[in-house]
Amino acid sequence: MEAEVTLNNRVILSIVDLVVDFGQTKAVDGVSLEVNQGEIFGLLGPNGAGKTTLLSAIEGLVKPASGRVVVAGLDGAKDRTKINAILGVALQSTSFQAELSISQLVRLYGGLYNIEMNSGAIRSSLESAGLSEESNKRFKQLSGGQQQRLSLLIANIADPLLLLLDEPTAGLDPQSRRKLWGVIEQNRRDGGSILLTTHSMEEAQSVCDRVAIIDHGKIITVDSPKNLIEKHSSDPRVLKVARGQVTLEDVFIGLTGGEIRD
Ligand SMILES: Nc1ncnc2c1ncn2[C@@H]1O[C@H](COP(=O)(O)OP(=O)(O)O)[C@@H](O)[C@H]1O
Ligand SMILES: [Mg+2]
Repeated sequence: MEAEVTLNNRVILSIVDLVVDFGQTKAVDGVSLEVNQGEIFGLLGPNGAGKTTLLSAIEGLVKPASGRVVVAGLDGAKDRTKINAILGVALQSTSFQAELSISQLVRLYGGLYNIEMNSGAIRSSLESAGLSEESNKRFKQLSGGQQQRLSLLIANIADPLLLLLDEPTAGLDPQSRRKLWGVIEQNRRDGGSILLTTHSMEEAQSVCDRVAIIDHGKIITVDSPKNLIEKHSSDPRVLKVARGQVTLEDVFIGLTGGEIRD
């Protein structure tokens, strides 16, 4: 690992007063947050809340108007090449080269990260993602869950210190979702840190150590799912929407408002 990467600190990602605007829209409006090493951190927010834009700024795909992104002690504005070498990214919607088989894709992406994948390594990585049977298929032939697991496998190929996953389980059936949660948790056991976005309360509660509720580009509240419920359970906006004992969804709807976002 490069000397500049500082891991003596518990914090793997630090975002300070980040602002990203697209013309008049402030997609990210003064966000500060920290993700600790070994943590699964969830960004929970309705459509258009700014989740993808926030991840894009961490990935260096959009340039912030102001604020800082620091990954493992490296400054996003200066050390982008080094940061990219320690980030694993699965975008919100991914499509891979249509004509290649799954095992060819794994070999190709390994090569892009300078990781030589022999057939044994490819076989075992596909096996751990539950894709042993699919190695000769093409991306389009995979089910949604299989596609997401392949995206996660590829995001993980260079053993990143921080994984960024944009809605990794959107649209998956319960079985595929559970399987993916298992892969994400295994990743953490292997020493990784994960920042993911989700709309799913169940996902936030099942896999996230901490969750930030984000809306209109701003973080409304951050804590463990359990503490979020405790902390906001007597908020009148939350009580107004609760249908019995207060749930994380009541907290979410209460704090972000009931109107539909498309
Ligand atoms: N490339 C872009 N150009 C202009 N506006 C954008 C662009 N990307 C996102 N936005 C706007 O920024 C806001 C946040 O979007 P996004 O980060 O995609 O939200 P989320 O991922 O939470 O659904 C929305 O109002 C969206 O319309
Ligand atoms: Mg998004």
